[in-house]
Amino acid sequence: MSDQRRVVVTGATGLIGRALCKKLHERGYAVMVFSRSPDKARQAVPEAAEYVAWQVAETGEWAAAIDGAYAVISLAGASIAGQRWNETYKRELYDSRIVATRGLVKAMEQAQTKPKVFVSGSAVGYYGWCDDTPLDEDAAPGKDFLAQLCMDWEREAAAAEQIGIRTSMVRTGIVLDKAEGALSQLLLPFKMFVGGPVLPGKQWLSWIHLVDQVGIIMLALEDERVHGPINATAPTPQTNRDFSATLAHVMGRPSWLPIPGFGLQLLFGEMADALLIHGQRVLPHKAQEHGYQFTYPTLEPALQKLLS
Ligand SMILES: NC(=O)c1ccc[n+]([C@@H]2O[C@H](COP(=O)([O-])OP(=O)(O)OC[C@H]3O[C@@H](n4cnc5c(N)ncnc54)[C@H](OP(=O)(O)O)[C@@H]3O)[C@@H](O)[C@H]2O)c1
Repeated sequence: MSDQRRVVVTGATGLIGRALCKKLHERGYAVMVFSRSPDKARQAVPEAAEYVAWQVAETGEWAAAIDGAYAVISLAGASIAGQRWNETYKRELYDSRIVATRGLVKAMEQAQTKPKVFVSGSAVGYYGWCDDTPLDEDAAPGKDFLAQLCMDWEREAAAAEQIGIRTSMVRTGIVLDKAEGALSQLLLPFKMFVGGPVLPGKQWLSWIHLVDQVGIIMLALEDERVHGPINATAPTPQTNRDFSATLAHVMGRPSWLPIPGFGLQLLFGEMADALLIHGQRVLPHKAQEHGYQFTYPTLEPALQKLLS
């Protein structure tokens, strides 16, 4: 295996990771999966060249496997929408990204032959709860828990740039896929004729099709001009009301039963505020500036393809 094409991926077994590893393999990279469960990873990512036992820690035996790799792509993290955010889970959300990234950067620093590129996950939650203002990569960060988490996550990643590794943080929006993630959760109420927007409905939802999410990660990996944060969102974010109306239209169902925000707050606490009741209108300025052509720039064709 040529070291020049070896790419280490954490979080490879997740929604984005699996699709990314397939694309990396197709493009001729040798994928080295870092997973907490290498046996499960063999099933989830069968095309990988190697499977390494990895843990969220500042160091470990896995660190040696980074020596000589061409790139590291870090997507690991406890699920943001996985459960109600109590203090223990917030710690897990935080450590699984911040401590994990710190460990990877330390391993890159100690490598005899350092990777050329580091691509780190991040999220549009970086911008916090926003109004209608369109946000590009230069917009200011928010102040809530998720914004602080993303800021700290990106700061850990940026340390790799200081040691001469080209680094990019992919600020991901809501990734649309039929089987997993936010869209899969939305389908059931619409199927049962009880779908509708989350009130107030005017909050923005910055979505991206999984194909373009992978495309923008590949851009960050392969385009040497890309440094720092890059938004991974479609160029046409929607308000929650419009998103629900389009989804209903594509499914041939009504969008009539609004979901009150306070009910979601009661059910899901702080997580409802960050992910459902508030939003941000994020634009993929840097990706477009670097010539990225979206496969799904608008919502209706994206949903039609996913739900056909
Ligand atoms: N999907 C979205 O809409 C979206 C939006 C914004 C940002 N993002 C970010 O993009 C990254 C990838 O997203 P995804 O949707 O592919 O995530 P995912 O499906 O939830 O998978 C994440 C992966 O991270 C690892 N992981 C899970 N819990 C962990 C923990 N407690 N500690 C360490 N590792 C853990 C797992 O890999 P192993 O079990 O193999 O170790 C898992 O397969 C995440 O960091 C996520 O926050 C995603």
